[in-house]
Amino acid sequence: MQVTLLGHGRLGSAIAEGWRLTGTVPCPTVLTRAVPPVCPPDTRALVIAVKPAAWRGAVAPVLATLPADATVISVMAGVRAADLSAALPGRAVARVMPTTAVAQAQGVAAIWSDDTAARALAHALFDPVADTVDLDEESLIDAATAVAGSAPAFFYALAQALAQAGVEVGLTLDAAERLARGALRSAGSGAGTHASLDDLIARIASPGGTTRAGLDALKDFDLDAAGRAAVQAAVARARALAGDQPA
Ligand SMILES: NC(=O)c1ccc[n+]([C@@H]2O[C@H](COP(=O)([O-])OP(=O)(O)OC[C@H]3O[C@@H](n4cnc5c(N)ncnc54)[C@H](OP(=O)(O)O)[C@@H]3O)[C@@H](O)[C@H]2O)c1
Repeated sequence: MQVTLLGHGRLGSAIAEGWRLTGTVPCPTVLTRAVPPVCPPDTRALVIAVKPAAWRGAVAPVLATLPADATVISVMAGVRAADLSAALPGRAVARVMPTTAVAQAQGVAAIWSDDTAARALAHALFDPVADTVDLDEESLIDAATAVAGSAPAFFYALAQALAQAGVEVGLTLDAAERLARGALRSAGSGAGTHASLDDLIARIASPGGTTRAGLDALKDFDLDAAGRAAVQAAVARARALAGDQPA
């Protein structure tokens, strides 16, 4: 399938890498600022992976060569399908919210479209590189952005805090960071299984043990409130980017 990828930054390059790794799209046409914005005539999908603030300027010059029956797949946070449809008239639109682990074919990606064929095409492109989650309403993409697209950074921030705390109880910075990163990798491999999150916690936290003591201490700081604050702020930012609310 001929796919044109507009934008080759952190996410765009991760998507291209995952496609190459899995053979999904071995040779996508990659449009960057450095190459003329020309789509091959047999382009079936235009995947837009530029920053939300840059998309109108990036899409305008591509329009002249984008086939009328191509599907537009946006991985941008906070850009509404209606705005994409208005800028790219006649093309069906799907929105996908992936994580950069698509590069290793281990991402997660929320998918929404009100067009059945566009949704199917989004699945064809992202099922090989991600655990794909279908959404019923476009507005839920903002929630998926917060809970998945942005969330790896929230876990890194927690790992940083744990490493810092490790330094305070005597570890060197290097040892603490390596241990915290290793813990994050271990948590990630557990998350890759089918066990529930409760089971994964129970496997490590034996009653009366060290992990249970740490989890009990975390309760004093209301982890639910911290998660809620991060998710709500990310959702609010996605809405502001879309122009629903003041930024
Ligand atoms: N990073 C993530 O984990 C993640 C997760 C979910 C969704 N997203 C979404 O993915 C999109 C891209 O994010 P990112 O983190 O990959 O940003 P990024 O690293 O800044 O990449 C954006 C890319 O778009 C390029 N670009 C800008 N204008 C262009 C144009 N006119 N023609 C062609 N390319 C152009 C930029 O090139 P220059 O460097 O030359 O400006 C840059 O390489 C965003 O909309 C974001 O909401 C990202």
